[in-house]
Amino acid sequence: MSAPMIRLESLSHRFRTKTGEVLAITDVDLEVEKGSFVSVVGPSGCGKSTLLSLISGLVPVQDGRVVVDGGDVRGIRRDTAMMLQGDALLPWRSVRKNISLALEIRGEYRAKADRVQQLIEEVGLGDFADSLPSALSGGMRKRAQLAATLVYDPSIILMDEPFGALDAFTRINMQQLLKDLCREIGATVLFVTHDLDEAVALSDKVAVFSKRPGTIKAVHDIDLPRDRGVAAVQSLPGFAEARGLFWSELRDELDVVEDRRAASHVG
Ligand SMILES: Nc1ncnc2c1ncn2[C@@H]1O[C@H](COP(=O)(O)OP(=O)(O)OP(=O)(O)O)[C@@H](O)[C@H]1O
Ligand SMILES: [Mg+2]
Repeated sequence: MSAPMIRLESLSHRFRTKTGEVLAITDVDLEVEKGSFVSVVGPSGCGKSTLLSLISGLVPVQDGRVVVDGGDVRGIRRDTAMMLQGDALLPWRSVRKNISLALEIRGEYRAKADRVQQLIEEVGLGDFADSLPSALSGGMRKRAQLAATLVYDPSIILMDEPFGALDAFTRINMQQLLKDLCREIGATVLFVTHDLDEAVALSDKVAVFSKRPGTIKAVHDIDLPRDRGVAAVQSLPGFAEARGLFWSELRDELDVVEDRRAASHVG
C-alpha cells in the first residue's frame, strides 16, 4: 500500500460567529493514499467545505493535524488545486487565457504553452479556444474550468461539488473526463458530493460524514474495477450494494421526510 498523500488526525474546527461559536467538524481522522480518488458524502452543513478549506491551507488548522505529503499544512500549497461548484471563469478572458491563468501567475506559461493546447483539445474545446466564456454552454464552461484546474499538473485536487449544476448527461461526460485526466496526471483527489451514484462511480474509497458537527461515520473501499467507465457503472455487480450501503448510513444523518401525506394523517 502506498503512503498517504493526505492524513487528517483528530481534526476539529470551530467558527466564531456574532452569536457564539459553531463546531463545524470534530475529531476527523482520514487517510487518502497517493494517486487515489476519495469522495466525501454527508448532509448539508456537516463541514465538508470546511474540511477542504483546511486541507487547502485557506483556513488555518486550530485543533488536530492536516499532514500533506509528509508535512503539516501551514498556508496555501502550490501543488494543490481547488475546484468549486460555481462558475470560476473570468468573463473578459478567452477560454485559452482562462486555462493558462494559473501558469501566467506562476511565470510558467511560455514553458508550458503546449500543455495548455493539449488540455484544450482533451476537454474538447479546440474550436472555442479564443471564445469568451459567455459564448459557451454550461457544460463547456465546466470543461474549461476543469482544464484550468489541471493545467499546472497539481498533485492534489480538492473538489467541492463541482458538477452539481449540470444535467445528468453532461455530468456523466464530465465525470469520465475528470477520472481520465486525474489518472493521467497521477493526482490525488478528494471529492465532495451529495450524489451517491457519482461517489460510487468515481471513487476508490468513500467517507461518510455524520451531521454537524461532522465526523467520519465510516470509510468504505469501492470494490469495483478501477478502470470502470462511468456511463456503464450502474450495471456492474456490486454497484447497487455499495450505493444502498451509503444511503442507509447517510439516511440516519438526514432529516428525511418519508411521506408527507402519511405524516399529516398521524394523529
Ligand atoms: N466562515 C464561516 N463562518 C462561520 N460559520 C461558518 C463558516 N463557514 C462555515 N460555517 C459553518 O460551519 C458549518 C459547516 O459548514 P460547511 O460549509 O463546511 O458545510 P458543508 O458540509 O459544506 O455544507 P453543504 O453541503 O451545504 O455545502 C455550518 O454550520 C456553517 O454555518
Ligand atoms: Mg459545502
